[in-house]
Amino acid sequence: MRNDNSQHLTPGALPSSMQLTREGQLKHFLTIEGLPPLLLEEILNRAEQFLDLPNKAQNKAPVLRGKTVMNLFFENSTRTRMTFELAAQRLSADVVTLDIRHSSTSKGESLLDTIRNLSAMNCDMFIVRHQHSGVAHFIARYCPPHISVLNAGDGYHQHPTQAMLDMLTIRQHKKEFPPLKVGIVGDILHSRVARSQIHALTTLCTGEVRVIAPRTLIPAGIEQMGVNVFNNMEQGLDDLDVIIMLRLQKERMQGGLLPSEREYFSLYGLTEERLKLAKSDAIVMHPGPVNRGVEIDSRVADGSQSVILQQVSNGIAVRMAVMTMVMSGQATEQSLL
Ligand code: CP
Repeated sequence: MRNDNSQHLTPGALPSSMQLTREGQLKHFLTIEGLPPLLLEEILNRAEQFLDLPNKAQNKAPVLRGKTVMNLFFENSTRTRMTFELAAQRLSADVVTLDIRHSSTSKGESLLDTIRNLSAMNCDMFIVRHQHSGVAHFIARYCPPHISVLNAGDGYHQHPTQAMLDMLTIRQHKKEFPPLKVGIVGDILHSRVARSQIHALTTLCTGEVRVIAPRTLIPAGIEQMGVNVFNNMEQGLDDLDVIIMLRLQKERMQGGLLPSEREYFSLYGLTEERLKLAKSDAIVMHPGPVNRGVEIDSRVADGSQSVILQQVSNGIAVRMAVMTMVMSGQATEQSLL
């Protein structure tokens, strides 16, 4: 596990190979980094097949019947936790959520002991969110081999299912990635979402990926990820097809990074006026939760170009897709052992 005082772009070389079987199937979903384009496309294609299902509770797919999914959210969540729960239920799994605040973690039980004890309850899948980068990898390394781990956001590192639901939303509106100019605006420094999105967008051969933010919120060396950096919002928005706004993660800031929220909004807030700088059919995205009036004007967040709530809905289908894929990967792997 990494100490999150690090403000580098990628918190160390967490091995992505551990999430694939020898046949190249997913058995954990920890990071987008290193995954082949075909696998990302398979997630998107499979999610599209599930798109109708999540709205119809009576149409449950029996794919995970008899499987037990455990939600371990050591950090707060609304969208990710609820859509993972719904996804597992729609696939007919048994789903239980550990109430971390009232768990024995508060009595000092170690993470490893918690995992060992939960594993002893015949669990098949852990969904893990944690404030420290690398925790999902750590659990994947030390849990029994038949259990799959899905990273629901770890520190500054990765939020892979968020990135895939974002890619699905983009594909629904823009069809193909190579002609697109996509801008990610705001607190790149603290954003696991931005890291996963950049990996996904570049893997899918997006024409141009821009990061747009004050210098203090851009991690050193980010150009190495294949993005163009803009410190000027107006220049960065010019001609974009997709604008992804990010939340200012005030809880992760250690002072001095920003003058004030008012000044931040005046320089980097997405207003109706600024939105006109992008293409006329540009879509506006935000992973949530939204700080209205800080990074985005409510008229834009709720406006006709906003697809923010579509992103949320897509989260169920994408999480269903990933859950079915890791279970297939596990089945293949176990049969070969
Ligand atoms: N996008 C996202 O991760 O939101 P939550 O923190 O509410 O899960």
